[in-house]
Amino acid sequence: MISELQKLEKNALAELETAETEEQISNIKTKYIGRKGLLTALLRNIAQVPDAEKPVYGKLCNELKERLNDLFDEKLQKHAANRKQNLLLKEKIDVTLPGNAVWCGREHPVVLVRQEICEIFASFGFSVVEGPEVELDYYNFEALNIPKDHPARDMQDTFYISDNVVLRTHTSPVQIRVMEKIAPPLRILSPGKVYRRDSDISHTPMFHQIEGLLVDEGISFGDLKGILTIFLKKFFGENTFLRFRPSFFPFTEPSAEVDIRCVICGGSGCRVCGQSGWLEILGSGMVDPAVFENVGYNAEKYTGFAFGLGLERMAMLKYGISDIRLFFENDIRFIRQF
Ligand code: PHE
Repeated sequence: MISELQKLEKNALAELETAETEEQISNIKTKYIGRKGLLTALLRNIAQVPDAEKPVYGKLCNELKERLNDLFDEKLQKHAANRKQNLLLKEKIDVTLPGNAVWCGREHPVVLVRQEICEIFASFGFSVVEGPEVELDYYNFEALNIPKDHPARDMQDTFYISDNVVLRTHTSPVQIRVMEKIAPPLRILSPGKVYRRDSDISHTPMFHQIEGLLVDEGISFGDLKGILTIFLKKFFGENTFLRFRPSFFPFTEPSAEVDIRCVICGGSGCRVCGQSGWLEILGSGMVDPAVFENVGYNAEKYTGFAFGLGLERMAMLKYGISDIRLFFENDIRFIRQF
């Protein structure tokens, strides 16, 4: 038995001598001292060794295994070190080669417009809050004075998740969520994604809005007009002409839509403004007392105004973009222009 061990050692050493790659060394290692290796098998055979010789045999086996193991590892390490050294010698960095261009993204026009609007309103003391895009029917409609089966629901073609859960159709539900949590006075702005079942050259199923809400004592329609006028002149330029047009929203009373004189034709009438000379850009109004009641505000003491505007529309008018779908094609050549 002992001579078998000696023979095994000799063979292993001879094979190791001829091995040239790390893979070959690893294979030899497995062949001899792996779990199913030759030496492991000999060690298992100890049962056939006479009892008196068992301790010696076992010891020899283990010593041999250790010796071989060290040898294999040493040789493997040497190879690895060589390989690294060769790589270092071969791989010189040529600093004169042209570099790889790093592709850099750019802020999307919708993001730019959102930032600019948030900054303008921050200067009026408004702070930014956000609300969920998957919204309860209660916040999206009911608390905003739009009961189930009310025809006002037809104004917004809605994606329903279930009977009581929708993808929010506007940012107005954030008004309710904020007023439920914070006592007046308050000034908030809420940007975010909204969803409607609409798709054509000027509508996409998802778009962005910003909601504004100001509540305090003694707020009048004059405040609404004043703040929105200053805002729109800052955003579109001092020479922007505005008009406030009576409108209807269930959650504001009175309500007004704001138009600016067409930025394309300057008011003489064109395709973009439908020959009217005016472009509708936001909805607004004095918060309906019924909404205050839904959130437990004292409607005798407090008044306020709210407004909502579409960010894509603002960006289209500001930058002269004619097709809303460009915003969502993710073409860097488009995005880089702003
Ligand atoms: N939520 C309305 C819409 O999406 C806009 C609006 C907001 C109108 C706030 C009045 C007050 O059409």
